[in-house]
Amino acid sequence: MASFNALLLFISYLLLLCSPFCSPARPRALVLPVAKDAATLQYVARIRQRTPSVLLKLVVDLGGRYLWVDCDSGYVSSTYRPARCRSAQCALANSNSCGDCFSAPRPGCNNNTCGVDPENPITRTSTTGELAQDVLSLASTDGSNPGHLAADQNFLFSCAPAFLLQGLANGATGMAGLGRNKVGTPSQLAAAFSFRRKFALCLSSSTSSDGVIFFGDGPYRFLGTQNVDAAQSLSYTPLLVNPVSTAGTFVRGEKSVEYFIGVTAIRVGGKAVPLNKTLLTIDKNGVGGTKISTVTPYTTLETSIYKAVTAAFATAMAAVPRVAAVAPFGLCFDAGSIGGTRVGPAVPEVDLVLQSESVYWRMFGANTMVAAGEKVLCLGFVDGGVEPRTSVVIGGHQVEDNLLQFDLAASRLGFSSSLLFRQTTCANFNFTGSG
Ligand SMILES: *[C@@H]1O[C@H](CO)[C@@H](O)[C@H](O)[C@H]1NC(C)=O
Ligand SMILES: *[C@@H]1O[C@H](CO)[C@@H](O)[C@H](O)[C@H]1NC(C)=O
Ligand SMILES: *[C@@H]1O[C@H](CO)[C@@H](O)[C@H](O)[C@H]1NC(C)=O
Repeated sequence: MASFNALLLFISYLLLLCSPFCSPARPRALVLPVAKDAATLQYVARIRQRTPSVLLKLVVDLGGRYLWVDCDSGYVSSTYRPARCRSAQCALANSNSCGDCFSAPRPGCNNNTCGVDPENPITRTSTTGELAQDVLSLASTDGSNPGHLAADQNFLFSCAPAFLLQGLANGATGMAGLGRNKVGTPSQLAAAFSFRRKFALCLSSSTSSDGVIFFGDGPYRFLGTQNVDAAQSLSYTPLLVNPVSTAGTFVRGEKSVEYFIGVTAIRVGGKAVPLNKTLLTIDKNGVGGTKISTVTPYTTLETSIYKAVTAAFATAMAAVPRVAAVAPFGLCFDAGSIGGTRVGPAVPEVDLVLQSESVYWRMFGANTMVAAGEKVLCLGFVDGGVEPRTSVVIGGHQVEDNLLQFDLAASRLGFSSSLLFRQTTCANFNFTGSG
């Protein structure tokens, strides 16, 4: 008995010694390449799933609750496992439903399974889909290069019918939801690999070179004249919780999983724009406020805010010849009359003022202006109409070449402003493997 105990002790010592050395080591962070699709302006991540593994293209949905994929079109995997009714998986996904499927069993169609509501926010379509687990793999990273593949054996996702793919970028077979709920991609990966619930988004403005998503903490290094760790020198602002879900379908009492921030004022060229501040707060019905979206190409403003910001910008640009507006924009200029800077066209900055006067997200020409035809530069903000659900939706164009770090545990957003200032871009992560 004593020798058996000694043997056990010896084995546990071996395991302890082994953990840092036996490969593959537990990753500190993970990395995903993200392409910008020229036709739809969507951001498409590439990730591996299933056994044998298949490389999937998934449209990034920052505020999405689940990772969902089309299971109708030839889903084959020996490691697919549907979530059984009333299991821990269903509880994690907040699903009390329980259903059967009346056709031949296959991924997406099994008896005694719980369902969730995968959503396509581009077509504003929601449906129900089987909750399931399968292997999901992506590259580990030291912050400088991709390393070995790391696999989450039990990644929870939703199956969806093929029709939900309508409106997505060519080749995409689902969406990667990065919402702040427990089954959102960031929280699941953090739990599987025991790292902090943080992730960072750095979207490329180029349709020919990839941007990047990091899961886990920095460093987040980008090549340039000097290599830049974009995790350094971030400004921070609290992430706010909208008490009412902004999803297409939800259960009563469900909070929004989207990322809201507290914009308190907007400045154009350093001058505060007169606004109805009530619109900037989230009311008890979940209406108003400011969120960040990767499925909205251009920042969309409630009509009165849009008019005020556009008027202020037109005043600040009074010396520059205007040209006919190009939809969906309402304020366009002769590009030949606007000079260039390191951070894009030389135009007045637009500041989103946050928790105090001294904390603001400054947007320069590269993020505020859009080339909309030969010699035409337009202010890249869009009229969101009267009484939209959310007053300010910060869109893809405005976050490109900015690093945004979402810290779910601390509920705060870190933002870098334009990386162009530091002579690098989101397309400068070195995707050449280190090992
Ligand atoms: C589910 O159960 C029903 C009734 O027992 C059966 O007809 C059906 O084929 C089953 N479906 C699957 C996918 O196993
Ligand atoms: C400001 O917006 C709120 C919310 O839409 C509205 O109820 C209020 O009437 C507005 N105030 C003014 C002065 O327009
Ligand atoms: C990218 O990383 C690879 C692998 O570490 C390295 O060999 C290469 O020099 C790096 N590229 C640049 C431009 O630094």
